Amino acid sequence: MTYQFPRNFWWGTATASHQVEGGNVYNDNWLMEHTPGMMYKESSGDAIDHYHRYPEDIALLGNLGFNLYRFSLEWSRIEPEEGEFSYAALEHYRRMLAACHEHGLTPMVTFNHFTSPRWLMRYGGWANQKTAGLFARFCERAARHLGDLIGAACTLNEINLPMFFNIAGFFRLEDLCQSPAFTTVSRSLGIQPEQFVPFLLAVTSEARQVILAAHRQGVDALKSGPGSYPVGVTLAIQDIQPAPGGEEAAAHNSREINDVYLEALVGDDFVGVQSYTRQRIGPSGFLPPETGFELTQTGYEFYPQALENAIRHAIAVAGIPVIVTENGLATDDDTRRIEFIRQALQGVARCLQDGLDVRGYTYWSAFDNFEWMSGYSMRFGLVAVDRQTQQRTIKPSAHWLGEIARTGILPK
Ligand code: GCO
Repeated sequence: MTYQFPRNFWWGTATASHQVEGGNVYNDNWLMEHTPGMMYKESSGDAIDHYHRYPEDIALLGNLGFNLYRFSLEWSRIEPEEGEFSYAALEHYRRMLAACHEHGLTPMVTFNHFTSPRWLMRYGGWANQKTAGLFARFCERAARHLGDLIGAACTLNEINLPMFFNIAGFFRLEDLCQSPAFTTVSRSLGIQPEQFVPFLLAVTSEARQVILAAHRQGVDALKSGPGSYPVGVTLAIQDIQPAPGGEEAAAHNSREINDVYLEALVGDDFVGVQSYTRQRIGPSGFLPPETGFELTQTGYEFYPQALENAIRHAIAVAGIPVIVTENGLATDDDTRRIEFIRQALQGVARCLQDGLDVRGYTYWSAFDNFEWMSGYSMRFGLVAVDRQTQQRTIKPSAHWLGEIARTGILPK
């Protein structure tokens, strides 16, 4: 079927400051990238120099046909030392917001996308209750400077991801804390290893409360500033599917990873749904990809249907509008990217046909960029970047999705 999306539907692409800006030397991630044994393949380095090249990048996205650009503020640039705010950094983001408006893009601003200023670790990072207030103060200060130009806002990114890591057993915090790399990092900051708690390592249930409080106080800070725009948070909604015998474990995990967070969002303007694949759960936990299944560069099953399941689940539990704030895959075969997005969008269309309130679709990512621990080897972008010359090359998928954005029509 050909499907016509609603006129005011948001069509976006997303990035995050640390993954594209380059030179984010004051945050916790930079420190980890430069500590042997910390599991980072390489330094983020200059990234794709989006910090300087945003005018061309934003123009390119507007010209392709999109009407939304989701990017994040780098807290460590805006508040490089505690309580010391950089007017120059805030002005930089003001210019980015203005560039979006100039090119017909609604700017969706994420106030924190995983990276934090190093000084926050002196407070025990995301495990300390004080962090909620420190984050809210940053939100208040940044929104006061930028709010009149903001089109939509996410306080934090994927607040349930640390809990997912924990439950899926990606690492054990106790082991990490005792590793030599942790000792090195914490010594360099003059703190104890337990104090070094970057966002993605905030896996305990106490940390969950800190993160939820940070979101809540962040919303209040943004709402009390200038401008008037929808405010929400994004979740890495897991499409959890029970394999035979895994029904109980699947239900328990879905509750801990998805529902506890979704239930905490009542009253928000929207929930940002982010989806990449499904997770199958058997009697003894998370299962590896099914044999013979097509895999993406990240080793995920090629499973675009997960997005529809994630949207339906989010709306059923949270009862608030959904914006798809991330969906995508890493591949060098751009025809598979188009196929993935096509199937994902068919799922979005089915949700809309059923009357579900879905307001937009954002592809991750606009550009190939720094994929955290995997470095630059995972290519999620609609636009390729030569990191020597920083030259941008538009992939066919960018033109294909841009055309859908322009017309609102998903072809057969
Ligand atoms: C996340 C982030 C992005 C990732 C993307 C691809 O979901 O971890 O929001 O920063 O790059 O998801 O893995």
